[in-house]
Amino acid sequence: SQYQKGVKHLCENGIKKVPRKYILPDSDRPNNADKQQPLLHAAAAPNIKLPIIDFSELQGPNRAQVLKSLASACEEYGFFQVVNHGITNDVISNMIDVCTRFFDLPFEERSKYMSSDMTAPVRYGTSFNQNKDSVFCWRDFLKLMCNPESLPHWPSSPTDLRRLAATYAKETKYLFMEIVEAILESLGVWGATTMNNNKTEEDDGDSDDDDEILKQFEDGSQLMVVNYYPACPEPDLTLGMPPHSDYGFLTLLLQDHVQGLQIQHKDKWVTVQPIPNSFVVNVGDHLEIFSNGRYKSVLHRVLVNSAKSRISVASLHALPMESTVRPSPALIDKANPRRYKDTDFSSFLNYISSCEPKRKNFLESRK
Ligand code: SIN
Ligand code: FE2
Repeated sequence: SQYQKGVKHLCENGIKKVPRKYILPDSDRPNNADKQQPLLHAAAAPNIKLPIIDFSELQGPNRAQVLKSLASACEEYGFFQVVNHGITNDVISNMIDVCTRFFDLPFEERSKYMSSDMTAPVRYGTSFNQNKDSVFCWRDFLKLMCNPESLPHWPSSPTDLRRLAATYAKETKYLFMEIVEAILESLGVWGATTMNNNKTEEDDGDSDDDDEILKQFEDGSQLMVVNYYPACPEPDLTLGMPPHSDYGFLTLLLQDHVQGLQIQHKDKWVTVQPIPNSFVVNVGDHLEIFSNGRYKSVLHRVLVNSAKSRISVASLHALPMESTVRPSPALIDKANPRRYKDTDFSSFLNYISSCEPKRKNFLESRK
């Protein structure tokens, strides 16, 4: 149908109203889904300041203090914002710019990359799961797998896309590795010798295990999802993305200056205020499982607005497809029994093919 061609295409053909295909039932609309604050207009929901992690401080003498803030951010919000991360403003603005130019290409050029194969190196599409969604969401996307074999399949137009997106992917992966190290340290499962002053010299035999964990992340999968949300004539009737949690270990999200991301915090939807050139980082399902529930993979969604289109780039990082994710043995004891089943990529694929993803949460199926 015409909707399979996406919302950008729809808008280019000039529409004044949101077609029925995108209209959510009353209970799922941005203003009504939140029973706790039914009178408050969703777009006016309080802008929270996510906990801010100053990345440069992590590398300095205040590391221990920053690790504590990191732990409480992951426990209480499942989200934090990273500033002073060392990725230059040029790399960031080039990425937003080239993605904008990709979505500005004629539909025929973009649609060359349409595919329903979940493992395709490049995938252009619309909505959340366009083969299953009964109500579509107001979003088009470009998904780029970031393993070296995938790069030659990335779009050849705009001509600088491969180069700029590859640089961005590489720098984001490096930042992810640094953040993962900090996260493992904050959980007490990595670098335990530096966290525990009482340990003696003999105890540092753990460093082989540490290297092993980091190696797995180094070899892990990275998927970049570029989201494009056109301005919407009736933003109260639909969503850019339905409530969902992220599947992998951590997501590093870059957004332009237009707000739209909301996270669930204390049973309310709150809007994340964009900080220019920062990353919004969130705990994924795998990290919640690995941490045995200590860090939370939190539901989030995207609102659209009638004035401006919005672009975001999510970089999703997970262990290699074939690995099993389970709670870290170091975080299980009598007082904290194991709370999740093992999982792997094939359980995830089975799960998404068996239900409408936005109605349920993958994580719930692993408890
Ligand atoms: C996402 O949840 O992956 C996208 C969030 C956003 O566009 O802000
Ligand atoms: Fe997400």
